[in-house]
Amino acid sequence: MTARIIDGNALSARVRGEIADRAATLSAQGVQPCLAVILVGDNPASAVYVRNKVSGCEKAGIRSLRYDFPADVDAAEVMAKISALNADPAVHGILVQLPLPKQFNEAEVLEAISVDKDVDGFHAENVGRLSQGQEAFLPCTPHGVMKMLEAENVPVQGAEAVIIGRSNIVGKPMAMLLTNAGATVTVTHSKTRDLAFHSRRADILVAAIGKPRFVTGAMIKPGAVVIDVGINRLTEGPDAGKLCGDVDFASAKDVASAITPVPGGVGPMTITMLLANTVESAERALR
Ligand code: GUN
Repeated sequence: MTARIIDGNALSARVRGEIADRAATLSAQGVQPCLAVILVGDNPASAVYVRNKVSGCEKAGIRSLRYDFPADVDAAEVMAKISALNADPAVHGILVQLPLPKQFNEAEVLEAISVDKDVDGFHAENVGRLSQGQEAFLPCTPHGVMKMLEAENVPVQGAEAVIIGRSNIVGKPMAMLLTNAGATVTVTHSKTRDLAFHSRRADILVAAIGKPRFVTGAMIKPGAVVIDVGINRLTEGPDAGKLCGDVDFASAKDVASAITPVPGGVGPMTITMLLANTVESAERALR
């Protein structure tokens, strides 16, 4: 079997077209959607993500405000910026790029963002609402994965879904979204005994463990749908310098029925859902 490649760029372009239309409608009513992005320090991966988020905004007709702070900034200064953005009615979304330097209490920073502007969906109240199946801003990466499954007509209800990784950003909210959609969900992680035993049972396998090419074909059930959330830069071997996912694409594609590539899979959908949440927030503000 050779897996169908799930094209995240194509789906992303389609959804971003719809988002741009909604942003244009809002702007015509005098409310241009606006996202404020805060970046602290000089983590090179974070700098790339923030640049892509800002440029995604521009292309969709969403205004963006970018605030850069040095790695040794006083946490109070960043908290004051968040308070000012919370109070500014022209700002609809606030995003603090993670990870933050050591002087920050990450949870405290995320809680400081207004629940109504939390377009990352990381605020404890939005996490709680998601876990109860209530309307909430959904974390962008797992929300993007759900959109991909929907677009590919992958049956979720009753499916065995196995997630590899238990982060607050991907693994845990992914588990909640799949559970809400009727899947039977198993969350595995770096401490799981015999991880392959679990992964081989999955109809839908989501890899989000942050280890390059961790999931091989031998760990996949024939015909499974494989979603690769990883973005890793290889540092050694013949492919040094190249990006790769958490899935060993070469062996996985012969076993899976459908698979997301890296790059060009989940990555573009993450930013797309951030833009969607920002427009949604601006629409809510008009209601
Ligand atoms: N760091 C890695 N992924 C994300 C994300 O989706 N949002 C934010 N704010 N930081 C991240």
